[in-house]
Amino acid sequence: MNVQLAPGIYWVGAVDWDLRYFHGYITQRGSSYNAYLIVDEKIALIDTVKAPFAATLLENVAAIIPPDKVDYLISLHVEMDHSGSLPFMLKACPNAQLVTSAPAGISGLTAHFGELTAQTVKTGDVLNLGSRNLHFVQTPMLHWPDNTVAFMPEEGILFSSDAFGQHYASSMRFDDEVAPQKIFHEAAKYYANIVMPFCQQTCKALEVIAPLKPKILAPAHGLIWRSLTESIISKYSDWGVQKLEDKAVVVYDTMWHSTEAMAQTITQAFTDEGLEVEQMNLQANHMSDVMVALLAAKYIAIGSSTINNQMLPSVAGFLAYMKGLTPRNRIGLAFGSYGWSGQSATQISEIMNGLGWAQPLPAQRIRYIPNKESLAKLGEAVQSMVKKQ
Ligand code: FEO
Repeated sequence: MNVQLAPGIYWVGAVDWDLRYFHGYITQRGSSYNAYLIVDEKIALIDTVKAPFAATLLENVAAIIPPDKVDYLISLHVEMDHSGSLPFMLKACPNAQLVTSAPAGISGLTAHFGELTAQTVKTGDVLNLGSRNLHFVQTPMLHWPDNTVAFMPEEGILFSSDAFGQHYASSMRFDDEVAPQKIFHEAAKYYANIVMPFCQQTCKALEVIAPLKPKILAPAHGLIWRSLTESIISKYSDWGVQKLEDKAVVVYDTMWHSTEAMAQTITQAFTDEGLEVEQMNLQANHMSDVMVALLAAKYIAIGSSTINNQMLPSVAGFLAYMKGLTPRNRIGLAFGSYGWSGQSATQISEIMNGLGWAQPLPAQRIRYIPNKESLAKLGEAVQSMVKKQ
């Protein structure tokens, strides 16, 4: 059955049930690559799908109209989960004119696929399809330089490319067909792991998108927003300014449970101060899930034992990942146990400094096995830090 967003506007993408890894991000719920077919006096296909799903896309288009009737193939984003089937679809739709942004869209596509002829668009350009129009707005770095969105005022649909997406494979296509907590969790995970470095660009894009008051947000991944549209736009406004909650996340790895004992003490201290806390051992939690926990957390404590003058590799890997995603304005606390050299907590603290986080307490270190007194001192220091905020 064809899924329509409005009369003559179809979802024709592909569901990737098996996807579990997306450049460092664990996608427990798979994903979808959303392409949209607009059948009006002119026929336009918005985006393609990841290359292995090209035949599915073509089949979905062909179930609605003969592919040689497609007039425009619009590429809103160069990344290969959306452009991978572009060469295949250009062949399958021989009368389609490629439409993409300039300069980033066309230069990105040619760098991937060789010389291409395209009609280029920029912010403010309008493509008339007959009774309906697509208004283009370039949204650079949301998530690549080429990202562009297209608004159809007649139906109130914003084809939003990566923005508002979720890695969420489902037999359903719309937000109101699944449990709200699932879609918001996946949208938050997507933001925290993909969009967060581009908070400023998110805020800039929202200044243009929000006044359009879109009824439907049709992203490039996951479910289409038609009932919770205002809520997800409001969430993006909060995430874009990195609005924080009175919440703490304690992230760590441990060798012989000493750093773990410190983590437990810190968790208890935050709890005793009335904060919601998530304690996340990196042996049991993937870093992309930790990123969701810290999306809106004011306090972030990170701990590692010292091994061979370094942090444990799990903590070093997490910090490299988190540093790229640039969470800002946090209150950090570095901690860790050690035997003789004890560099790990200081190394963590230096990374927090690099991110511009406040660190009211110096790096907290305990030699070998924490005892009742050293843990009590740590807990008191954390509680007193929270009291002063
Ligand atoms: Fe889903 Fe930036 O691509």
